[in-house]
Amino acid sequence: MNATEAWARLEPKLAYFRDRVRSLEYEPVRKNSFVAYTVERDSAYADQDGQRLLMMSGYSYLGLAGDERVVAAAKAALDLYGTGNHGVRALAGSTPLHEDLEAEVARFAGRERALVFGSGYAANVGTVGALVGPGDTVFIDKYDHASIVDGCKLSGATVTRFRHNDPGHLERRLAAAPDTGVRLVIVDSVYSMDGDIAPLVDLRKVCDAHNALLMVDEAHALGVIGATGKGIEEHFDYEVKVDVKLGTLSKAIPSMGGWVAGSADLIHHLKYAARPFLFSAALGPAQAAAALEALRILQREPQRVEFVQREAERFRGLLHAAGMSTVDSETAVVPIIAGSDTAAYDYATTCRKNGVIGLPVVTPAVPNDLARLRIAITAAHTTADIDFAADAFITSARECRII
Ligand SMILES: Cc1ncc(COP(=O)(O)O)c(C=O)c1O
Repeated sequence: MNATEAWARLEPKLAYFRDRVRSLEYEPVRKNSFVAYTVERDSAYADQDGQRLLMMSGYSYLGLAGDERVVAAAKAALDLYGTGNHGVRALAGSTPLHEDLEAEVARFAGRERALVFGSGYAANVGTVGALVGPGDTVFIDKYDHASIVDGCKLSGATVTRFRHNDPGHLERRLAAAPDTGVRLVIVDSVYSMDGDIAPLVDLRKVCDAHNALLMVDEAHALGVIGATGKGIEEHFDYEVKVDVKLGTLSKAIPSMGGWVAGSADLIHHLKYAARPFLFSAALGPAQAAAALEALRILQREPQRVEFVQREAERFRGLLHAAGMSTVDSETAVVPIIAGSDTAAYDYATTCRKNGVIGLPVVTPAVPNDLARLRIAITAAHTTADIDFAADAFITSARECRII
């Protein structure tokens, strides 16, 4: 086969995104996707092309991304260890910082041990692949994160989806599947596109009745739900416990990396069986140090969590009073539905004109005609910022005839 023929066979794959994205490539899309922002360290504002705008779509829920203590910890780690770890954790990649971080994550999560991966994505792919394989069955919520879906596909297990936040449907799925092998149910604690919370107590009951383990992804729950930001178990007053807890260090914790917490046996197994852990370089020292310091600050400063919970509720109230829907949001993630993909891009452009950044999430990340701006309330915002943002989103919605 010659090189031209080899490339020609790849062409249909290249054409898919080239044609799809090009069809959307008009001014509003260029201004809202893959845009470079300069984010101010001490506020929730960002500069884009000389315009100072209030960022309302960032993930740094606790407002710690520019915190001087976190930055100082990262700098100290750079001075001590340099910029990379030059290996996987099993070989040259482990530092005392990784061990300290894992001990802190385990304490925070209330589990015996924890393991830190290079990203939340890697944590999901690695953990699912280490727990299930051919002959096993994994049951996932329809809105579970892509990294869970990809982990399931790679694992070779049978994958069954159940309706979003519907324990009754999960129960029917479990009853219909052969009761053999490992049965693993996986949900997000907080759904990143809708801001709603998994019905943990009912899910636990269904899992117990059908020999299934329960795993939760706390990516948008850590630092956000539960009275002190400990996530979904705390949110439900520790009425039930999950079997496998997992999360990221890239959202409320302003670094990079993913974590899993559980029994000593489980973590020992993951160390050897989770391939993205065993075969991918260790988290960099500056990122590990930043994550460790932020986790400590979160525990010392629960008022950050309380602020986010209070202001998210107030923000939703302001939108509702203006006749706007925030669907089922009950957390810091607040979706504002625009309708079609084009409507979401146009709404985002109008919001920018009115001083706020609300970034569009379009198909295939969300269902058809449910394209939205995904808004996140953080502790970097002030109450005045929240008032300003609500006003800008409402005014823009009127201009775009969304209300
Ligand atoms: C629910 C959920 N899980 C996992 C991830 C992946 O985390 P990371 O970005 O740290 O790889 C994300 C990131 O968007 C997420 O929203």
